[in-house]
Amino acid sequence: MRHLLSTADLSADEATELLDEAERFEQALTGREVRKLPTLRGRTVMTVFYENSTRTRVSFEVAGKWMSADVINVSASSSSAGKGESLRDTAKTLRAAGADALVVRHPASGAAQQIAEWTADADGGPAVINAGDGMHEHPTQALLDALTLRQRLGSLRDRRVAIVGDILHSRVARSNAHLLATLGAEVVLVAPPTLVPVGVEQWPVQVSTDLDAELAGVDAVMMLRVQAERMNGGFFPSAREYSVRYGLNDRRLALLDDHAVVLHPGPMLRGMEIGWSVADSPKTTILEQVRNGVHVRMAVLFRLLVGTEDSSPATTSTSG
Ligand code: CP
Repeated sequence: MRHLLSTADLSADEATELLDEAERFEQALTGREVRKLPTLRGRTVMTVFYENSTRTRVSFEVAGKWMSADVINVSASSSSAGKGESLRDTAKTLRAAGADALVVRHPASGAAQQIAEWTADADGGPAVINAGDGMHEHPTQALLDALTLRQRLGSLRDRRVAIVGDILHSRVARSNAHLLATLGAEVVLVAPPTLVPVGVEQWPVQVSTDLDAELAGVDAVMMLRVQAERMNGGFFPSAREYSVRYGLNDRRLALLDDHAVVLHPGPMLRGMEIGWSVADSPKTTILEQVRNGVHVRMAVLFRLLVGTEDSSPATTSTSG
């Protein structure tokens, strides 16, 4: 694996190995007073974010630092991008400054793929990790969601997962649809017709507009944030109608089977796609997803920067 750009590029074995690796990192760190492994000592990870982020940026930084990498955070708003420098020149500059890995978030679909092509050099170029490209993909989010589901439900095979809400603008939905299908789950997208993407028939999913009808038969519900920033000032249905028809409220939570769980990638809009008490319910995995995000990102950085020759991160651990 040279880069992580899309979950569609991952085989079931590769994805499962990343999830196993993430759990090995979690175990290697459990109970330690000092959460520091020497795994990436001497490696430089740069995060480059052209869109806002809390979870993804912070968890990549924590992941890199817990593995002793030098982590440099580049915010587009305070970089020379603000003076008009192109994405291509910025990416090549960061490589020249020593980046072994570039973690990229950008509003344009395909930006991470472009950067991987632009920065390829005689040494192979930096590993590029897509931390969210427009409405396209967010592969590490899907991996941490899969890990959370595996921990709560056991295997993903033949599990039914509903992804609910603003599918049209959601890179999380696309990455999850591919990865969950690869891991053997059945995926149903539940959304108003105006928020279903053109071409969804090419995705490995079913599509429904009726949330109430779907809830009784699912093992997990993944609620999505309504992405107003990608809607040019308005959307249909209205916020009120959306909340009534597609919001996960207490009544709908009660329709779920006892074992079923509720995911949300965050940031969540309480009172819009998810009710206040639902967000804090024991069925909801939101903070587990965040914790798993650190371990998944450790696994991804490890695989891309060290490869598979060192079999276990735990065996490379000497401190703490
Ligand atoms: N889930 C997610 O990508 O959150 P952030 O935008 O806070 O990184």
